[in-house]
Amino acid sequence: MPRSDRFFSMGTPCGEKSAERRAKSLAAFKERVVSSAAMNIVVVGAQWGDEGKGKVIDVLTEDADILIRFQGGHNAGHTVIADGEEFIFHLIPSGLLHPGKIGLIGNGVVVDPEALLNEMERLKARGIDIERAVKLSDQAHVIFPYHKRLDVLEEGARTDGRIGTTGRGIGPCYVDKVARCGIRVADLCAEQVFAAKLKQNVTEKNRLFKLLYHAPPESYDALFESYRAYARRLQPHVVNSASFLQDAVAHGKRLLFEGAQGTLLDIDHGTYPYVTSSNATAGGACTGSGVPPTAIDRILGVVKAYTTRVGEGPLPTEFGDALMQRIRTRGNEFGATTGRPRRCGWFDAVVARHAVRVNGCHSLAVTKLDVLDEMPTIQICVGYRDGRQTLTEFPSEIERLSRCRPVYESLPGWRTETTEASRFDELPVEAQRYLQRLEALLGVPISLISTGSKREQAFKTARW
Ligand code: GDP
Ligand code: IMO
Ligand code: MG
Repeated sequence: MPRSDRFFSMGTPCGEKSAERRAKSLAAFKERVVSSAAMNIVVVGAQWGDEGKGKVIDVLTEDADILIRFQGGHNAGHTVIADGEEFIFHLIPSGLLHPGKIGLIGNGVVVDPEALLNEMERLKARGIDIERAVKLSDQAHVIFPYHKRLDVLEEGARTDGRIGTTGRGIGPCYVDKVARCGIRVADLCAEQVFAAKLKQNVTEKNRLFKLLYHAPPESYDALFESYRAYARRLQPHVVNSASFLQDAVAHGKRLLFEGAQGTLLDIDHGTYPYVTSSNATAGGACTGSGVPPTAIDRILGVVKAYTTRVGEGPLPTEFGDALMQRIRTRGNEFGATTGRPRRCGWFDAVVARHAVRVNGCHSLAVTKLDVLDEMPTIQICVGYRDGRQTLTEFPSEIERLSRCRPVYESLPGWRTETTEASRFDELPVEAQRYLQRLEALLGVPISLISTGSKREQAFKTARW
């Protein structure tokens, strides 16, 4: 039930006696609340990341006021192609190419100040009013060079079971957050507090470098000086994100939350331990921003028309060599952050159904439909076979998932270009059937379809 309906079902808000006046007041309330503030949307990846979230955010930004990143860090790479130019966002929300919007980096994000400042400079050079547009939570945790070094050293020390991290220090920074020794943006901006916390952290990390990894130490003085300079530059952007956003909601501003990574990389609901270190699922939007769940109206999951994964870990529908090369080339499946080739496979409805359920998706956006345009036949994984058993639920044990073999359903391909379509009924009938089959398997409507990397190559369906 929409928030406004719930509100009205609890009784008459204004105590008016006359039915007419009550109806008028209801209409006015709905006009104000339902058409603006009631559309606070969370966008999340429903596979292993790189689903095209950046593009979807850019498309939806027109109807939003504040764009919010709530987890992850500059391990994310979100691509937007607008007016022939490519932009890759890492920490800054992907909607900021639209003028007049605010982009907030929430408390759940881990922030490398150097990476953030570089990204701000790049956008400024392209005419974005960064000074006004970018806000940074005072509770976000800060990534230091020792986190990056630990990330790389820990990966090197894993004999089997490498995760294939991006090497950006994301995991070690979240470790410090949970261990309660992390340094937050507010600490960074309070010089004496910062000096004491940094000293403690550098001493401890140097002990690890020396005793565990036989690696050279970090210099406290050099770190203190460089981070003090970053703090001065970031200070004008720092806000208390929870109260900033709660005030915005109270004033009817529309929020658009941009998930990073994807559900199968979520620390709790993903293919643990082959995951990232944050909650990439919809619940993370609340904990990572300070906006309560009651203020969220809609959750949109983003899936590719097939599946990709970068880094290690099971991928049940992974293609063999020939199809891998074909789809990787056609879909340009190379990481936006690290440039690594992405592993590709058929659409996995077991994975997507798991994602729809843990995120509570109201609907889905399907991207990269055009990449399948030439395929004579298309497969959808509808279940897994583990020995004699057939599973339709995503297994939580990684060992079991690694043993699972996909059960496929085949559909005819459309062998026609879809890149010019601007309505569902302009898609070839086989493409319509493919999407309708996905809706039936996943139990949610598809409300947005993307058939090319450009901003214009996307349309909302009647089920938006
Ligand atoms: P994100 O991390 O989820 O934002 O996704 P990435 O930006 O890492 O990867 C998605 C890639 O697919 C980018 O190169 C986009 O430009 C591209 N892309 C997005 N939507 C489409 C689409 O519908 N068709 C094609 N061919 N490319 C798309
Ligand atoms: P976006 O937001 C795809 C993967 C890494 C690795 C694992 C852990 O662009 O979808 P980390 O550095 O986070 O500790 O690495 O997570 N990974 C991503 N894969 N898209 C991403 O982001 C990713 N961010 C992290 O490859 O397997
Ligand atoms: Mg990406």
